[in-house]
Amino acid sequence: MLLRNTAQPQLPGQPPGPPGSTVDSTRWCNRRSGAASEPWIVPAPDVLERRRSKEWLEARDMSGAGLTVLVTGGAGYIGSHCTVELLQAGYAVIALDNFVNSVPSAPSGSGLPPSLQRVQLITGKELTFYECDLLDKTRLQQIFQEHKIDCVIHFAAIKAVGESMQFPLLYYKNNLIATINLLEVMEAHNVYQLVFSSSCTVYGNPESLPITESHPTGDVTNVYGRTKHFIEGMLKDISAANSKWNIIALRYFNPVGAHPTGLIGEDPTKEFTNIMPYMAQVAMGNKPHLTIFGGDYDTVDGTGVRDYIHVMDLASGHVAALSKLHKDHQRIRIYNLGTGKGVSVLQLLKIFEAVTDTEIPFKICSRRDGDIVSMYANASLAEKELGWKSQFTLPQMCKDFWRWQTMNPDGYRSSVENSVSRKASQNGHTVTEHLKKNGHSDNSVPAKSSQNGHHQHTNGKIPMGNGHS
Ligand SMILES: NC(=O)c1ccc[n+]([C@@H]2O[C@H](COP(=O)([O-])OP(=O)(O)OC[C@H]3O[C@@H](n4cnc5c(N)ncnc54)[C@H](O)[C@@H]3O)[C@@H](O)[C@H]2O)c1
Repeated sequence: MLLRNTAQPQLPGQPPGPPGSTVDSTRWCNRRSGAASEPWIVPAPDVLERRRSKEWLEARDMSGAGLTVLVTGGAGYIGSHCTVELLQAGYAVIALDNFVNSVPSAPSGSGLPPSLQRVQLITGKELTFYECDLLDKTRLQQIFQEHKIDCVIHFAAIKAVGESMQFPLLYYKNNLIATINLLEVMEAHNVYQLVFSSSCTVYGNPESLPITESHPTGDVTNVYGRTKHFIEGMLKDISAANSKWNIIALRYFNPVGAHPTGLIGEDPTKEFTNIMPYMAQVAMGNKPHLTIFGGDYDTVDGTGVRDYIHVMDLASGHVAALSKLHKDHQRIRIYNLGTGKGVSVLQLLKIFEAVTDTEIPFKICSRRDGDIVSMYANASLAEKELGWKSQFTLPQMCKDFWRWQTMNPDGYRSSVENSVSRKASQNGHTVTEHLKKNGHSDNSVPAKSSQNGHHQHTNGKIPMGNGHS
């Protein structure tokens, strides 16, 4: 079903405050001082207004004007943030998702998932959405027949490292077969411009730091990472076989943060494995402490080191990549997207505590097998060739994430009444059903009350170390 949304999205739920108002998070977190609301929790409409101002619009890259981009996995974390940038760069956006890891549209609502409803609110622009599983090739073909698509950004994948080790075939099927379907349908419709979401996990345990794109890949420590490595190999092969292909694979380091309005952010429906959402849950009192695996590594303070990058920087990296594809025929090119700065778990924790004025109890446990000690990017190739450089600082990443978290303590669920009834799609999509059969959490689990009388997700149980997805 094609869904074109014109309905006004529902704003983040209350508490902690009326939509768009200054958020009072005092009741919500392990605050140090109990001081009044932070000045950085700005009223959302203010931010929206500024972002639509004439000067701001004039300063934007409008490289997408007149072009249509298909965004797979568009309801997810990075997909929704990127869609903001794409709409603002003038692209017409067709998004698709099967909601295996994102909150679905309310059955009786406008048809758009809440993340994309809010994207429309932020940008003041409309987009088109399809509920579609990439494993359903027929349905995908229908979308390509319905629209003249110029280019594709392929975000859709499942990404939980631990789960991928338990259910390798699920990961190979969802990530590899879905990508093959997409590439075949693209080729059949003469669409050859593709940006692919890869990951720094393809580097395995780094031999040298900072990591450049020429660092060896393939010695990957988990199944999820291997799916990314195999897809990169597939992309190299198709571009060698058919010179029409024009592909950029972006190897992300560790995306964190949220859109500065606090309207969209990370709200996975599977167990989350990223450190910042877990830290925030501890800061809000929903979890007792953060578990850090390994405090005796050869790093600045003994804890693991990663390269955290603001999700809006990643988003602008995708617009820069598409822009490059429109200008130059590259066949295939690979870029790191990172800040180039390594930050330890304890350093991140201290900054998060400082900017949010909270306390995050933590426990340091012994190392886990397979954990990587340090990983950070050399992102100079993206700067040189794409004209892209990360802009946001670590405190901004923490502030933006915290704004999203405190404005939306239940994630998007507050704006999706009875989103609990996620349905298997007509032709029997396999991933969702497999997860259900295997007793995995999914977003059919209703929110339950937490100790402090507020709601919390019933998933997200994995204690964090220095591991990342
Ligand atoms: N977030 C990270 O830390 C990180 C790091 C490196 C790479 N990546 C990659 O970036 C991409 C986006 O990640 P994200 O963090 O936004 O994840 P996400 O789970 O929030 O978004 C992915 C979206 O794809 C959808 N999806 C999955 N399989 C699908 C299928 N078969 N058909 C249709 N939709 C499907 C999910 O429902 C979800 O909404 C993924 O490819 C991921 O592997 C993410």
